[in-house]
Amino acid sequence: MSRICVIGTGYVGLVTGACFADLGNMVTCLDVDEKRINKLKEGLMPIYEPGLEQIVEQNVRHGRLTFTTDYPEAVKNADFAFIAVGTPSGVDGEADLQYVRQAAESVADLVEWPIVVVNKSTVPVGTGDWVADIITRRRNGRPLDFSVVSNPEFLREGSAINDFMVPDRVVLGSLHQEAAEKVARLYASLRCPILITDLRTAEMVKYASNAFLATRISFINEIANICEELGADVNQVARGMGLDKRIGPSFLDAGLGWGGSCFPKDVKALAHMAVLHGTHPQLLQAVMDINRNQRRRVVVKLRRALGTLDQKIIGVLGLSFKPNTDDIREAPALEVIHLLENEGATIRAYDPQAMTAAAAVLPRVRLCETAYEVADGADSLLLATEWNEFKQLDFSKIKELMKQPVILDGRNAWDAESMKDLGFIYMGVGRGNLQSK
Ligand SMILES: NC(=O)c1ccc[n+]([C@@H]2O[C@H](COP(=O)([O-])OP(=O)(O)OC[C@H]3O[C@@H](n4cnc5c(N)ncnc54)[C@H](O)[C@@H]3O)[C@@H](O)[C@H]2O)c1
Repeated sequence: MSRICVIGTGYVGLVTGACFADLGNMVTCLDVDEKRINKLKEGLMPIYEPGLEQIVEQNVRHGRLTFTTDYPEAVKNADFAFIAVGTPSGVDGEADLQYVRQAAESVADLVEWPIVVVNKSTVPVGTGDWVADIITRRRNGRPLDFSVVSNPEFLREGSAINDFMVPDRVVLGSLHQEAAEKVARLYASLRCPILITDLRTAEMVKYASNAFLATRISFINEIANICEELGADVNQVARGMGLDKRIGPSFLDAGLGWGGSCFPKDVKALAHMAVLHGTHPQLLQAVMDINRNQRRRVVVKLRRALGTLDQKIIGVLGLSFKPNTDDIREAPALEVIHLLENEGATIRAYDPQAMTAAAAVLPRVRLCETAYEVADGADSLLLATEWNEFKQLDFSKIKELMKQPVILDGRNAWDAESMKDLGFIYMGVGRGNLQSK
């Protein structure tokens, strides 16, 4: 049993804290956001993540998991301080490290016993060294037995608990082998491959992984756009590619492009690091350009189908950046909505979990309570996020409700042939041979 302090209780920190508690450790989760901590103390989850509430409740009940805004209380006697604060994009695409700095300084100010500081936040290559420097300088000559370990997080929102508990791998980087091994022991019961590297390599594994996944999506979207012109179906193309063991099927879904709290900022930050060190990240630039264009193509397609978008009513199904999360950071739906509003369209939308978050950033959008309310009177319906509840809608009813039967299936989730049989003008992404002309 170890004593763990997790700094930052967002998607990563809260899942990490709850899961380490579930593995038998004593965990204190700390956040500077009082509202968030008060909610957690009342047993209310500040985010939507399947299975999270149950694991939090169980571990709080067993006395292994507590929440606080009080730094001294949180770090007291901790063997490990996991830093899991946000690292959003700065003005130039760089990762903004102000929260990591605050966390590192607080540890330096408050700890007087041996501690391992573990960076779970996604941070630029070299940040581990920088955190060690911050702590040393802040101590101002007062000795502290500490080591820094980089432990990038690979969990996906929507399946975060399972991703933590059944990871493909755990990556640990440190200049101190012993410290990395101590962290490795925290994960030992998960029986997964554990890769121990130096600090910078571990930090790079995270960026390279996210950039590669984003590249796969942009790649298939580029193929989708070519399919559209040449009369091929990208779904079948992706299946044909994915069956090749060298390629594999994941992250080959054509659609509105990638979004969320990680890929956009991490690809940008990696490109920024590259430029700063004199290399030309041409592929990363192309990956980002293709992604941006994917949103714009929605406007082009709808304009083509509806003539003009001015004063047209567009219904949007799904606002979160992917299903099973309430996270709307850099969600494709939001970017598309802004583009459509710029064309004069009126938007109404519905999402099973992201309505509260969306209300704060979409002042002009009418937020509806069901998919059918979204469809009522709409000139077109756009599927932006493929939540399960959108897969089996009553499309005959939707057709009756809509003013014009124009469907843009931005996730290729619906059966094109049956939609056309029902009389819809159906447009998918990269489904050239199915496109209604
Ligand atoms: N969300 C994901 O799916 C995911 C996956 C892998 C890695 N990551 C990375 O993990 C990090 C955290 O991401 P997230 O999505 O959990 O962020 P988040 O924005 O959901 O949560 C960050 C939390 O840190 C708190 N915080 C900020 N400064 C603090 C401080 N000085 N002390 C204590 N708490 C502080 C904030 O109040 C917030 O609650 C980021 O670097 C992100 O790139 C995220």
